[in-house]
Amino acid sequence: MASPPPSPDLRPVRLNALGEFAASIAHEVKQPLAAVTINAEACMKWLEQDPPRLEQARAALRVVMQASTAAAGMVRSLHGMACQAAPERSTFIVEDALREVLQLMRGELRQHGITMIEDYAAAPYQLTADRVQLAQVMLNLLLNAIEALKDSAAPRTLALKTLLADGALRISIEDSGAGIPAALAERIFEPLFSTKPGGTGMGLAICRSIVQAHGGQIWTTTVQPQGAAFHLSFKEYTVWTPSRS
Ligand SMILES: Nc1ncnc2c1ncn2[C@@H]1O[C@H](COP(=O)(O)OP(=O)(O)OP(=O)(O)O)[C@@H](O)[C@H]1O
Ligand SMILES: [Mg+2]
Repeated sequence: MASPPPSPDLRPVRLNALGEFAASIAHEVKQPLAAVTINAEACMKWLEQDPPRLEQARAALRVVMQASTAAAGMVRSLHGMACQAAPERSTFIVEDALREVLQLMRGELRQHGITMIEDYAAAPYQLTADRVQLAQVMLNLLLNAIEALKDSAAPRTLALKTLLADGALRISIEDSGAGIPAALAERIFEPLFSTKPGGTGMGLAICRSIVQAHGGQIWTTTVQPQGAAFHLSFKEYTVWTPSRS
């Protein structure tokens, strides 16, 4: 797999323009709010049955709670970024955080007939990072991949990998969609750049801000025979060891 570009663009992207901030919030809460609506409706339907299906209603409500907590976390995190506050770091196993994000997207992956391949490094690697922000990055990358795949006639696959490369922990997400034209590869991380009707163009700009605030790198490569890959790499990682207590 290709290494990071030799002279990466390390300019901090600050979300300080009001328009960008509003676009960022709109972008980040869209997905969890949709989940709240769908599951609240489902919950009502389960309750209106005779007799009410309480277990199903409870399950739908649990998703409502999870999605609203995620939305609140993302708004808090964006506010922190706009104020240029440091990320709220904790130490966690990367694979656990990735599985958690995938869980939120399972329905959409299934709905679009996307085959998901998970290929995690053998050792359980840990990052000391802002977990909400890492989830935000992964959600944005997954949403872009799903958008690239959903109208594709080719087999729709999405691979999520972790590996050690060049002395850093790398997280890669590869799709088999149409890919990114070489002429656009430099521009896609710019705030408000979008090729989609109705796209805010903030997804990748937010990803880059978050990754750089963690001292990491994000870049894209092409996938053969077709598709786009996004890679994140973090030099500061540890290997989880079970506690002896
Ligand atoms: N997986 C991908 N495959 C192909 N093109 C992609 C992929 N991910 C991003 N892009 C390109 O990068 C552009 C910028 O992506 P970004 O997430 O910042 O905004 P957007 O997806 O267009 O808008 P929004 O995130 O608000 O829906 C996209 O418009 C698209 O052209
Ligand atoms: Mg996007």
